[in-house]
Amino acid sequence: MLGRLNHVAIAVPDLAAASAQYRTMLAAEVTEPQVLPEHGVTVVFINLPNTKIELLEPLDEASPIAAFLAKNPSGGMHHVCYEVEDILAARDHLKAEGARVLGDGEPKIGAHNKPVLFLHPKDFNGTLIELEQV
Ligand code: CO
Repeated sequence: MLGRLNHVAIAVPDLAAASAQYRTMLAAEVTEPQVLPEHGVTVVFINLPNTKIELLEPLDEASPIAAFLAKNPSGGMHHVCYEVEDILAARDHLKAEGARVLGDGEPKIGAHNKPVLFLHPKDFNGTLIELEQV
């Protein structure tokens, strides 16, 4: 069911500073910031040869990332994103296996204009998992 690792996401307290660090200190290719109101975040992607890193900054205090940064003020690894070919089939399989899908269980449109879902970290060794249909 799982395809490629699409990205690893890191929550950051200052997206501009983190982007500048990746661009200059790490000499990486960083995309322009993208505001995703439905997810409560602004994101950039670092394009690597084999995958991407997503940097996440909360849009406001209501953002789920704001709560994460309250616990991890200097930032930290937030989720991993795996690709799937059919997100509804993947969701139905996971629910039948007893995994919890976050939110109302319906895919939302993610940063790549593709449907995404998140799975409960307590069901996956303490790791928040995003599935993206490709
Ligand atoms: Co993501």
